[in-house]
Amino acid sequence: TFVVTENCIKCKYTDCVEVCPVDCFHEGPNFLVIDPEECIDCTLCEPECPAEAIFAEDDLPEDQAHFKAINAQLSKEWPVITERKEPPADAKDWDGKPDKLALLER
Ligand code: SF4
Ligand code: F3S
Repeated sequence: TFVVTENCIKCKYTDCVEVCPVDCFHEGPNFLVIDPEECIDCTLCEPECPAEAIFAEDDLPEDQAHFKAINAQLSKEWPVITERKEPPADAKDWDGKPDKLALLER
């Protein structure tokens, strides 16, 4: 399965959702997650993310390993998103900022 990681927080470009053939992205206030039970490992979303926040589970950086559980949990709580929307106005300012997990809104 593929996993959305920390750099999506407050960037939320949503380019990823347009290419997913099985609609497995779910949207929260400032972050997206992938439903691991729906993802078919098609790999299409990974190169679409301008923030490079999407990884195959097997390629997850060690410091992002906790996002596997975060995706699994929040995808059960948040609604599906299938259409791209405008990112936050300050998305670029947040791209690459460290320690954004504390800013994740649920
Ligand atoms: Fe969707 Fe494919 Fe990305 Fe999985 S790898 S989330 S199926 S686009
Ligand atoms: Fe997030 Fe990248 Fe999608 S920033 S919303 S994973 S395009």
